[in-house]
Amino acid sequence: MSRGHSHDHSHDHEAQHGDVDEGAAHRRTLDLDAEVFGAQLGAVVDLLPSTVPPRRVVDLGAGTGTGSRLLRERFPVATVTAVDSDPRMLHVLADQGFAVVAADLDEGFPAQLQGADLVWAASSLHHVGDVPQLLADVRAALAPGGVLVVVELEDLPRFTADPVEDRARAAARAAGWNHHPDWTPHLRQAGFAVERHDLVLDVPPSAAAEEFARAWLPRYLAVPGFDEAPALQALLDGDLRLEPRAQRAVWVAR
Ligand SMILES: C[S@@+](CC[C@H](N)C(=O)[O-])C[C@H]1O[C@@H](n2cnc3c(N)ncnc32)[C@H](O)[C@@H]1O
Repeated sequence: MSRGHSHDHSHDHEAQHGDVDEGAAHRRTLDLDAEVFGAQLGAVVDLLPSTVPPRRVVDLGAGTGTGSRLLRERFPVATVTAVDSDPRMLHVLADQGFAVVAADLDEGFPAQLQGADLVWAASSLHHVGDVPQLLADVRAALAPGGVLVVVELEDLPRFTADPVEDRARAAARAAGWNHHPDWTPHLRQAGFAVERHDLVLDVPPSAAAEEFARAWLPRYLAVPGFDEAPALQALLDGDLRLEPRAQRAVWVAR
Protein backbone atom coordinates (compact mmCIF):
# COMPACT_ATOMS: atom_id res chain seq x y z
CA MET A 1 0.00 0.00 0.00
CA SER A 2 1.32 3.32 -0.93
CA ARG A 3 0.62 6.74 0.44
CA GLY A 4 2.62 8.49 -2.22
CA HIS A 5 6.16 9.54 -2.06
CA SER A 6 6.07 11.02 1.40
CA HIS A 7 5.01 7.59 2.61
CA ASP A 8 6.71 5.41 0.04
CA HIS A 9 10.09 6.08 1.50
CA SER A 10 9.07 5.77 5.14
CA HIS A 11 10.78 2.35 5.20
CA ASP A 12 14.03 3.96 4.01
CA HIS A 13 13.53 6.57 6.66
CA GLU A 14 13.09 3.87 9.26
CA ALA A 15 16.21 2.06 8.13
CA GLN A 16 18.24 5.23 8.18
CA HIS A 17 16.87 6.86 11.29
CA GLY A 18 15.61 3.95 13.34
CA ASP A 19 12.02 5.16 13.22
CA VAL A 20 10.67 1.85 14.40
CA ASP A 21 7.11 3.00 15.10
CA GLU A 22 6.65 4.46 11.66
CA GLY A 23 8.04 1.31 10.06
CA ALA A 24 5.82 -0.94 12.16
CA ALA A 25 2.79 1.18 11.27
CA HIS A 26 3.70 0.91 7.58
CA ARG A 27 3.98 -2.88 7.81
CA ARG A 28 0.64 -3.10 9.67
CA THR A 29 -0.96 -1.00 6.92
CA LEU A 30 0.29 -3.41 4.25
CA ASP A 31 -1.18 -6.32 6.21
CA LEU A 32 -4.51 -4.54 6.72
CA ASP A 33 -4.69 -3.84 2.99
CA ALA A 34 -4.20 -7.57 2.41
CA GLU A 35 -6.87 -8.46 4.97
CA VAL A 36 -9.45 -5.98 3.73
CA PHE A 37 -8.81 -5.86 -0.01
CA GLY A 38 -6.85 -9.09 -0.57
CA ALA A 39 -9.60 -10.50 -2.81
CA GLN A 40 -8.62 -7.91 -5.38
CA LEU A 41 -5.14 -9.41 -5.69
CA GLY A 42 -6.77 -12.83 -6.02
CA ALA A 43 -8.67 -11.38 -8.99
CA VAL A 44 -5.35 -10.24 -10.46
CA VAL A 45 -4.07 -13.84 -10.41
CA ASP A 46 -7.27 -14.87 -12.22
CA LEU A 47 -6.23 -12.60 -15.10
CA LEU A 48 -3.09 -14.61 -15.77
CA PRO A 49 -2.93 -16.89 -18.78
CA SER A 50 -4.09 -20.30 -17.59
CA THR A 51 -1.52 -22.31 -19.49
CA VAL A 52 1.31 -23.95 -17.58
CA PRO A 53 1.40 -22.90 -13.90
CA PRO A 54 4.57 -20.99 -13.07
CA ARG A 55 7.35 -22.86 -11.24
CA ARG A 56 9.65 -19.94 -10.54
CA VAL A 57 7.87 -16.88 -9.17
CA VAL A 58 9.54 -13.63 -8.12
CA ASP A 59 7.79 -10.98 -6.01
CA LEU A 60 9.53 -7.62 -6.53
CA GLY A 61 9.20 -5.19 -3.62
CA ALA A 62 7.45 -7.92 -1.65
CA GLY A 63 6.86 -5.87 1.51
CA THR A 64 5.21 -7.94 4.22
CA GLY A 65 4.46 -10.76 1.78
CA THR A 66 0.89 -10.13 0.62
CA GLY A 67 1.67 -11.09 -2.98
CA SER A 68 4.16 -13.82 -2.05
CA ARG A 69 1.60 -15.59 0.18
CA LEU A 70 -1.11 -15.35 -2.45
CA LEU A 71 1.20 -16.70 -5.17
CA ARG A 72 2.43 -19.56 -2.97
CA GLU A 73 -1.19 -20.50 -2.24
CA ARG A 74 -2.28 -20.30 -5.89
CA PHE A 75 0.82 -22.01 -7.31
CA PRO A 76 1.78 -24.57 -4.66
CA VAL A 77 4.45 -26.22 -6.82
CA ALA A 78 6.22 -22.92 -7.45
CA THR A 79 9.24 -21.53 -5.64
CA VAL A 80 8.35 -17.99 -4.62
CA THR A 81 11.31 -15.68 -4.12
CA ALA A 82 10.63 -12.39 -2.37
CA VAL A 83 12.84 -9.43 -3.26
CA ASP A 84 13.02 -6.26 -1.20
CA SER A 85 15.61 -3.69 -0.19
CA ASP A 86 14.28 -3.14 3.33
CA PRO A 87 15.89 -5.50 5.86
CA ARG A 88 12.86 -5.33 8.13
CA MET A 89 10.60 -6.53 5.30
CA LEU A 90 13.12 -9.26 4.47
CA HIS A 91 13.00 -10.43 8.08
CA VAL A 92 9.18 -10.69 7.96
CA LEU A 93 9.36 -12.52 4.61
CA ALA A 94 12.02 -14.99 5.74
CA ASP A 95 9.90 -15.76 8.83
CA GLN A 96 7.09 -16.75 6.46
CA GLY A 97 9.37 -19.27 4.78
CA PHE A 98 10.08 -17.42 1.56
CA ALA A 99 13.39 -17.50 -0.25
CA VAL A 100 14.46 -13.87 0.10
CA VAL A 101 16.81 -11.76 -1.94
CA ALA A 102 18.01 -8.43 -0.58
CA ALA A 103 18.33 -6.18 -3.59
CA ASP A 104 17.91 -2.59 -4.59
CA LEU A 105 15.77 -2.65 -7.74
CA ASP A 106 17.26 0.71 -8.69
CA GLU A 107 20.25 -1.40 -9.67
CA GLY A 108 18.17 -3.70 -11.89
CA PHE A 109 16.69 -7.17 -11.55
CA PRO A 110 18.72 -9.55 -9.35
CA ALA A 111 20.99 -11.51 -11.68
CA GLN A 112 20.53 -14.79 -9.76
CA LEU A 113 16.79 -14.89 -10.59
CA GLN A 114 17.11 -15.64 -14.31
CA GLY A 115 14.49 -17.96 -15.79
CA ALA A 116 11.48 -16.70 -13.82
CA ASP A 117 8.08 -17.80 -15.11
CA LEU A 118 6.16 -15.10 -13.25
CA VAL A 119 7.45 -11.77 -11.97
CA TRP A 120 5.00 -9.87 -9.76
CA ALA A 121 5.45 -6.21 -8.84
CA ALA A 122 2.58 -4.88 -6.72
CA SER A 123 2.69 -1.27 -5.52
CA SER A 124 6.44 -1.34 -6.00
CA LEU A 125 7.37 -0.29 -9.54
CA HIS A 126 6.64 3.38 -8.84
CA HIS A 127 9.36 3.30 -6.17
CA VAL A 128 12.05 2.32 -8.64
CA GLY A 129 14.41 4.95 -10.02
CA ASP A 130 15.52 3.35 -13.28
CA VAL A 131 12.34 1.68 -14.55
CA PRO A 132 13.54 1.20 -18.18
CA GLN A 133 16.58 -0.72 -16.92
CA LEU A 134 14.54 -2.86 -14.55
CA LEU A 135 11.93 -3.67 -17.21
CA ALA A 136 14.61 -4.56 -19.76
CA ASP A 137 16.26 -6.82 -17.17
CA VAL A 138 12.96 -8.51 -16.30
CA ARG A 139 12.20 -9.14 -19.95
CA ALA A 140 15.61 -10.70 -20.43
CA ALA A 141 15.24 -12.76 -17.25
CA LEU A 142 11.80 -14.24 -18.02
CA ALA A 143 11.67 -17.84 -19.18
CA PRO A 144 9.97 -18.43 -22.55
CA GLY A 145 6.25 -17.78 -22.04
CA GLY A 146 6.98 -15.95 -18.80
CA VAL A 147 4.77 -13.11 -17.56
CA LEU A 148 5.38 -9.86 -15.72
CA VAL A 149 2.44 -8.56 -13.67
CA VAL A 150 2.51 -4.97 -12.46
CA VAL A 151 -0.15 -3.80 -10.01
CA GLU A 152 -0.67 -0.27 -8.73
CA LEU A 153 -3.36 1.37 -6.63
CA GLU A 154 -5.29 3.31 -9.22
CA ASP A 155 -6.68 5.49 -6.48
CA LEU A 156 -6.21 5.90 -2.75
CA PRO A 157 -8.42 3.49 -0.81
CA ARG A 158 -11.87 4.80 0.07
CA PHE A 159 -13.28 3.99 3.47
CA THR A 160 -16.50 6.04 3.67
CA ALA A 161 -18.70 7.86 1.20
CA ASP A 162 -18.37 11.02 3.28
CA PRO A 163 -17.62 14.06 1.07
CA VAL A 164 -14.91 15.17 3.52
CA GLU A 165 -12.99 11.97 2.87
CA ASP A 166 -13.49 12.53 -0.85
CA ARG A 167 -11.98 15.99 -0.61
CA ALA A 168 -9.12 14.72 1.55
CA ARG A 169 -8.35 12.05 -1.04
CA ALA A 170 -8.43 14.67 -3.79
CA ALA A 171 -6.00 16.87 -1.84
CA ALA A 172 -3.69 13.89 -1.26
CA ARG A 173 -3.79 13.00 -4.94
CA ALA A 174 -2.98 16.62 -5.81
CA ALA A 175 -0.07 16.44 -3.36
CA GLY A 176 1.32 13.47 -5.33
CA TRP A 177 0.34 10.62 -3.05
CA ASN A 178 0.29 7.30 -4.82
CA HIS A 179 1.54 8.86 -8.03
CA HIS A 180 2.38 6.34 -10.70
CA PRO A 181 2.45 6.58 -14.47
CA ASP A 182 0.40 4.54 -16.88
CA TRP A 183 2.95 1.75 -17.29
CA THR A 184 1.65 0.67 -20.72
CA PRO A 185 4.09 2.72 -22.85
CA HIS A 186 6.99 1.89 -20.54
CA LEU A 187 6.27 -1.82 -20.84
CA ARG A 188 5.88 -1.61 -24.62
CA GLN A 189 9.15 0.29 -24.85
CA ALA A 190 10.82 -2.62 -23.07
CA GLY A 191 9.43 -4.98 -25.71
CA PHE A 192 6.45 -6.42 -23.85
CA ALA A 193 2.98 -7.05 -25.27
CA VAL A 194 0.70 -5.52 -22.65
CA GLU A 195 -2.88 -5.87 -21.44
CA ARG A 196 -4.19 -3.38 -18.89
CA HIS A 197 -7.10 -4.16 -16.57
CA ASP A 198 -8.81 -1.84 -14.10
CA LEU A 199 -10.35 -3.48 -11.05
CA VAL A 200 -12.74 -2.00 -8.52
CA LEU A 201 -13.61 -3.88 -5.33
CA ASP A 202 -16.25 -2.94 -2.76
CA VAL A 203 -16.08 -4.91 0.46
CA PRO A 204 -18.42 -5.04 3.45
CA PRO A 205 -17.54 -3.25 6.69
CA SER A 206 -15.40 -5.33 9.06
CA ALA A 207 -13.23 -4.87 12.14
CA ALA A 208 -10.12 -4.92 9.92
CA ALA A 209 -11.63 -2.29 7.61
CA GLU A 210 -12.36 -0.10 10.62
CA GLU A 211 -8.78 -0.50 11.90
CA PHE A 212 -7.44 0.27 8.42
CA ALA A 213 -9.68 3.35 8.12
CA ARG A 214 -8.71 4.65 11.55
CA ALA A 215 -5.02 4.17 10.75
CA TRP A 216 -5.25 5.68 7.29
CA LEU A 217 -7.65 8.63 7.45
CA PRO A 218 -5.71 10.69 10.05
CA ARG A 219 -2.79 10.85 7.59
CA TYR A 220 -4.83 13.24 5.47
CA LEU A 221 -4.73 15.78 8.32
CA ALA A 222 -1.14 16.57 7.25
CA VAL A 223 -1.76 16.88 3.50
CA PRO A 224 -0.60 20.25 2.23
CA GLY A 225 -3.56 22.16 0.81
CA PHE A 226 -6.17 20.17 2.76
CA ASP A 227 -7.85 22.77 4.95
CA GLU A 228 -10.72 20.75 6.42
CA ALA A 229 -8.89 19.13 9.31
CA PRO A 230 -11.70 19.84 11.84
CA ALA A 231 -14.31 18.20 9.59
CA LEU A 232 -12.09 15.18 9.02
CA GLN A 233 -11.44 14.96 12.76
CA ALA A 234 -15.20 15.09 13.39
CA LEU A 235 -15.64 12.23 10.94
CA LEU A 236 -13.00 10.23 12.82
CA ASP A 237 -14.54 11.06 16.20
CA GLY A 238 -17.89 9.62 15.14
CA ASP A 239 -19.04 6.19 14.01
CA LEU A 240 -17.50 5.59 10.64
CA ARG A 241 -20.09 4.44 8.13
CA LEU A 242 -17.74 2.20 6.23
CA GLU A 243 -18.11 1.63 2.50
CA PRO A 244 -14.59 0.38 1.68
CA ARG A 245 -13.50 0.42 -1.94
CA ALA A 246 -10.17 -0.30 -3.62
CA GLN A 247 -9.22 0.43 -7.20
CA ARG A 248 -6.21 -1.18 -8.80
CA ALA A 249 -4.70 -1.05 -12.25
CA VAL A 250 -3.06 -4.23 -13.50
CA TRP A 251 -0.66 -4.68 -16.40
CA VAL A 252 -0.12 -8.21 -17.66
CA ALA A 253 3.01 -8.12 -19.83
CA ARG A 254 4.44 -10.91 -21.97
C1 LIG B 1 4.17 -0.22 -0.93
S1 LIG B 1 5.13 -1.59 -0.54
C2 LIG B 1 4.32 -2.90 -1.41
C3 LIG B 1 4.54 -4.23 -0.78
C4 LIG B 1 3.82 -5.40 -1.42
N1 LIG B 1 4.24 -5.62 -2.78
C5 LIG B 1 2.33 -5.27 -1.33
O1 LIG B 1 1.67 -5.29 -2.38
O2 LIG B 1 1.80 -5.17 -0.21
C6 LIG B 1 6.58 -1.34 -1.53
C7 LIG B 1 7.73 -2.27 -1.22
O3 LIG B 1 8.77 -2.05 -2.19
C8 LIG B 1 10.01 -2.04 -1.53
N2 LIG B 1 10.93 -1.21 -2.31
C9 LIG B 1 10.83 0.12 -2.55
N3 LIG B 1 11.85 0.53 -3.31
C10 LIG B 1 12.63 -0.55 -3.55
C11 LIG B 1 13.83 -0.76 -4.27
N4 LIG B 1 14.45 0.23 -4.90
N5 LIG B 1 14.35 -1.99 -4.29
C12 LIG B 1 13.73 -3.02 -3.66
N6 LIG B 1 12.58 -2.89 -2.97
C13 LIG B 1 12.04 -1.67 -2.91
C14 LIG B 1 9.71 -1.45 -0.17
O4 LIG B 1 10.70 -1.78 0.77
C15 LIG B 1 8.35 -2.03 0.13
O5 LIG B 1 8.47 -3.25 0.83
